[in-house]
Amino acid sequence: MHLEIRDISKFFGDFQALREVSLDVGGDEFVCLLGPSGCGKTTLLRIVAGLEPYDSGTLMLGGRDLREVDAQHRGFGIVFQSYSLFPNMTVSENIGYGLKIQKWPQERINAKVRELMELVRFPELAERYPHELSGGQQQRVAIARAIAVDPKLLLLDEPLSALDARVRAEMRAEIRDVQRRLGIPTIMVTHDQEEALTMADKVVCMKDGRIEQVGTPHELYARPQTRFVADFVGISNLLDEAEAARLIPEVVNRKPKEGGAHLLALRPEEIGLRKEDDGAGEVTAVTFLGNINRIQIEWQGRELVAEVHRTTDVAPGDRVAFEVGPESGAWVRA
Ligand SMILES: Nc1ncnc2c1ncn2[C@@H]1O[C@H](COP(=O)(O)OP(=O)(O)OP(=O)(O)O)[C@@H](O)[C@H]1O
Ligand SMILES: [Mg+2]
Repeated sequence: MHLEIRDISKFFGDFQALREVSLDVGGDEFVCLLGPSGCGKTTLLRIVAGLEPYDSGTLMLGGRDLREVDAQHRGFGIVFQSYSLFPNMTVSENIGYGLKIQKWPQERINAKVRELMELVRFPELAERYPHELSGGQQQRVAIARAIAVDPKLLLLDEPLSALDARVRAEMRAEIRDVQRRLGIPTIMVTHDQEEALTMADKVVCMKDGRIEQVGTPHELYARPQTRFVADFVGISNLLDEAEAARLIPEVVNRKPKEGGAHLLALRPEEIGLRKEDDGAGEVTAVTFLGNINRIQIEWQGRELVAEVHRTTDVAPGDRVAFEVGPESGAWVRA
């Protein structure tokens, strides 16, 4: 079922938390809301869930206006950031809770709970209580509980943020896998750009209550439209027009026709380096990051960041020349 968010605005007193936000979520699409703290991600998710009123705009699911449907009757699966399991219920009682409310017979609930535990790869610990589980296990239970009732829409608010890096990476793949198998439209909130890029079909980059850009992960990374997106999604070197022309002479031909100031966003991996005694840059730092080396260079009174994937022979103090392909970089609105 298709979710349509049209021109939603939301005020908390005088403060405007959402500014005419419009977004479509297709039938089996996985959409990530990405943006810094306070940009309105949770507010938008809560409005879609029916947990928060809004001031103007419309929300439609499958052609039906959601204003007429209260939160309990929307039939959405919701997982919040902090594990929201019922502490006094076992794992199987937690997962089966929604089915019990719907008055399923106990036999069928038990069978469904077993099936769900398998789906989210939860181990054989059905009789444990939430405090006897690891963080990752608790979030698996929360996800199983959210999808137990065959939700029409799955809403996830930073479901992985409390987990350590390894479990988080593993859970990303599993949430995506479960969502694909069930084919439910899903909105997940995150402020972690890597999470959004690895999981989403569509990333919605938000800033100050507004959508800055919507696109596939690749579009957002390769063709950011604004300075904010270029900076928030990955690392960018932002060059003004004169600087850009000095580094890549051909780039001026690609400058957008529209007015207003533009900057060239150049990814660190687009900057090639060659040691050269009278090179234009001087290496100030080399940071080893495991799979890559991040190299800071002083160039014409400013800093550039480059990344190279192999072992590098450049060291602080070296002079370097740049090798930047003519197609590199993306013009963004300053
Ligand atoms: N109940 C409320 N009353 C007043 N202001 C609120 C309320 N809820 C949220 N806000 C404000 O609205 C803005 C958006 O909050 P929201 O929780 O949506 O941000 P977020 O993008 O989810 O941030 P985070 O990444 O920190 O969770 C913030 O400035 C917040 O202080
Ligand atoms: Mg939030």
